[in-house]
Amino acid sequence: MTTATATPPPTAGKAMRTVHFRIKRCDGPGKPSRWESFNVPIPANSNVISCLQWIAANPTTADGKATTPVVWESSCLEEVCGACTMVINGKVRQSCSCLIDEYAPNDGDTVTLEPMSKFPVIRDLWVDRTRMFAALKRVKAWVPIDGTYSLGAGPMEGPRASETRYKLSECMTCGCCMEACPQYHLQADPAGWETSFIGAAPISQARLFNDHGTGKQLKSERLEALMGPGGINDCGNAQNCVQVCPKEIPLTESIGAIGRAATVEAFRRFFMAK
Ligand code: SF4
Ligand code: SF4
Ligand code: FES
Repeated sequence: MTTATATPPPTAGKAMRTVHFRIKRCDGPGKPSRWESFNVPIPANSNVISCLQWIAANPTTADGKATTPVVWESSCLEEVCGACTMVINGKVRQSCSCLIDEYAPNDGDTVTLEPMSKFPVIRDLWVDRTRMFAALKRVKAWVPIDGTYSLGAGPMEGPRASETRYKLSECMTCGCCMEACPQYHLQADPAGWETSFIGAAPISQARLFNDHGTGKQLKSERLEALMGPGGINDCGNAQNCVQVCPKEIPLTESIGAIGRAATVEAFRRFFMAK
């Protein structure tokens, strides 16, 4: 969580212009939200995070009122951790890689910042992403090796499978695919997480680990989790998820692959039960 950094955007030798920021603010979970505006001097090559840092160091609204520094979350600052995801001018994306020159190229342009709407707001632009990590636990998104002794090298993987799985492994649990999904709804109470739609990213992670030579040991359990309430059948195939994924992960391909695997698993269970 970042609250204040006193470093304004770099200015040396660069023309400054002013960009107007409209920011949706909220003082804490369950508190009402409000809008505040800030005029930020912008040098070339600024990103949204550097502007938030300037606002944190100069917490005065555009109409001259003193306010609290805006709160957001960030970590890697290179589109790897997913923590800084927010809705910028109506589009969900990472704020660290969002260049102001692209979003607001002219003096006086406006940039609107809102927290994601599918996750509970902790404060201002900072949301609680715990539900996504709970979903990864729900589909057992790991390779089971705990408690074993050294068994030597694992199964070999061909280059094609490796290439496919590498792409899937780039997921940074940022939440963009959930924010854009019409089937995924805000669910603040953990009691509802097990039965509400799980979202595209955990489905894709189940595919990543089901296709792993050792990870496939848990394939049946992963599919069981995805065949129940809130699983693969709740996907409406709207394909919004794949369009917003910043890592260009083939989410609809993963949803299709898991859907087919779930069908095979259902037949397997039916005949095994006889
Ligand atoms: S295909 Fe549509 S309904 Fe399914 S996860 Fe993606 S956005 Fe959501
Ligand atoms: S699949 Fe893409 S959009 Fe969804 S959480 Fe992973 S990186 Fe983000
Ligand atoms: S700070 Fe990590 S993705 Fe932006």
